[in-house]
Amino acid sequence: MNAAGVKKPVAKTEDEIELIRQSSLLVGKTLAELASWIKPGVTTLELDRIADEFIRDHGAYPGFNGYRGYPNSICASVNSAVVHGVPGSAPLKEGDVVSIDIGVVKDGFWGDSAYTFAVGEVKPDVRRLLEVTLECLDLAVEQAVAGKRLGDIGFAVQSHAEAHGYGVVRELVGHGLGRNLHEPPEVANYGKRGTGLVLHEGWVIAIEPMINLGSRHVREMEDGWTIRTRDDRPSAHYEHTLVIRKEQAEVLSTFKWIHEALASK
Ligand code: MF3
Ligand code: CO
Repeated sequence: MNAAGVKKPVAKTEDEIELIRQSSLLVGKTLAELASWIKPGVTTLELDRIADEFIRDHGAYPGFNGYRGYPNSICASVNSAVVHGVPGSAPLKEGDVVSIDIGVVKDGFWGDSAYTFAVGEVKPDVRRLLEVTLECLDLAVEQAVAGKRLGDIGFAVQSHAEAHGYGVVRELVGHGLGRNLHEPPEVANYGKRGTGLVLHEGWVIAIEPMINLGSRHVREMEDGWTIRTRDDRPSAHYEHTLVIRKEQAEVLSTFKWIHEALASK
């Protein structure tokens, strides 16, 4: 604990990192499995069932299921839903975007990753939002190096998103993870260079920019979960689990299989 009562992050051992890698890779495989199913007409509840079965078949547990009472195994956030969208029976439509966020637990350790998919053809401004949000994540990962600070990560996301006129969500943040889904530190998507905690080798964190086409403001829906943009314009969300290293972050999750699945659609 520091003076503010906030627990300090603890570096993971290489054995622990290996287990987080296995969980994170399974999330990447599950997202890729869903990538091939995402098209107009499919429901997010169907995607939830497919992911749930896929994760259990791989000897893991879909960790979001029951987490603080969460009712499903994936979060599926469509269009103006930013994050924590609860799967439902409304079919996806051409032109929608859907963020799928998945956490799995295997051998006691979490992996957490998310990807925003286009459903069929989406409008150019929304397509651009997805590209730039993915760039925000990549720029943040570049900053996730020992000796840099949390504010360097936040600045990388915020400056790139705002240069495109987008809104950066502030109410939700990335996080450390390991035996728990949410561990210190909090990883904000906004900030000032050279401020905040100094990053240490071995910290495992999830970086997850949530970027809005319109204003940054959000509201929580009556379901107690879904976070939606206040102006009802679309939002995008990508997330990687990674470990802080000396020269370059080691990304433990992967979008490789998603991109392969999308290319062969
Ligand atoms: N990836 C999210 C997070 O990091 C999702 C957790 S919400 C849950 O906070 F309740 F579904 F687990
Ligand atoms: Co997360």
